[in-house]
Amino acid sequence: MVSRIIGKRDMSIKTTRKYREELKEANLRLKKAYKEVRDSHIQIVFRLAVMAEYRDMTTGSHLVRIADYSAMIAQGMGLSKTEVQNVRYASPMHDIGKIILPDSILKNKGKLTDDEREVMKRHPIAGAEIFRDSRSPIMQACGVIALTHHERYDGSGYPYGLKGKEIPLYGRIVGVADVFDALTSKRPYKKAYSFERSVSMVTAMAGRNFDPDVVKAFVRSEERIRGVWEANRDIEDFLDGVGGLGEAVPRLDLKIQLMLGRAGRYNPRKMSGGKLR
Ligand SMILES: [Fe+2]
Ligand SMILES: [Fe+2]
Repeated sequence: MVSRIIGKRDMSIKTTRKYREELKEANLRLKKAYKEVRDSHIQIVFRLAVMAEYRDMTTGSHLVRIADYSAMIAQGMGLSKTEVQNVRYASPMHDIGKIILPDSILKNKGKLTDDEREVMKRHPIAGAEIFRDSRSPIMQACGVIALTHHERYDGSGYPYGLKGKEIPLYGRIVGVADVFDALTSKRPYKKAYSFERSVSMVTAMAGRNFDPDVVKAFVRSEERIRGVWEANRDIEDFLDGVGGLGEAVPRLDLKIQLMLGRAGRYNPRKMSGGKLR
């Protein structure tokens, strides 16, 4: 009798252990599948950025910096690790809607006419359309950021003139990162402002262009942001240099490498079927 009870108990311990093992394995498989899906979404997003590069809409280094700056501000705001990652990977998509713009506007280095400016202002909605109805959190973040990165805290932005916290948080964060990068970068109509000057200009825009809470988080992350700014100064100079020589292809390659974090050039001999090794 006693031995039968002990036998039964041993069996149930074995069964529980087996179930536990199976559950652990199933969990690992699920985690792996989730990671694969997430990674492929990130890859799609970056490949869209590469597509934008072909139309010369922006520089790859701007995309890399905006990802870093936005993630640092998001961290400074105390967002969760997943949200910080969403902001990091989605922020380079802010201007993807510019794909609809004609070359006459896209490549215009001078002042736009009023009509051209109105066409330019359509890029947030066009960008949001690209990601509409996606169920992936990263792509949803891309849509929100594309749509709202030109809204201003005081309601004077576009496309909807949203005000204050009506503007989704991701849009408020990337709005700061985008303007800060524009200030510290050279443009046809201005020189690159110093780090200090750009920080104080951003601070002065709190409450007007930007959410004061986001600006506070930006200031809290100032030293880390300075690190990114410093590390990228040389790259920007280098890109300027090769651009001057008119070597478009290697320059594009370098930008793609920057974005995908891939070292070395593509080797056609190593490309097979549907796989880029
Ligand atoms: Fe934009
Ligand atoms: Fe931008």
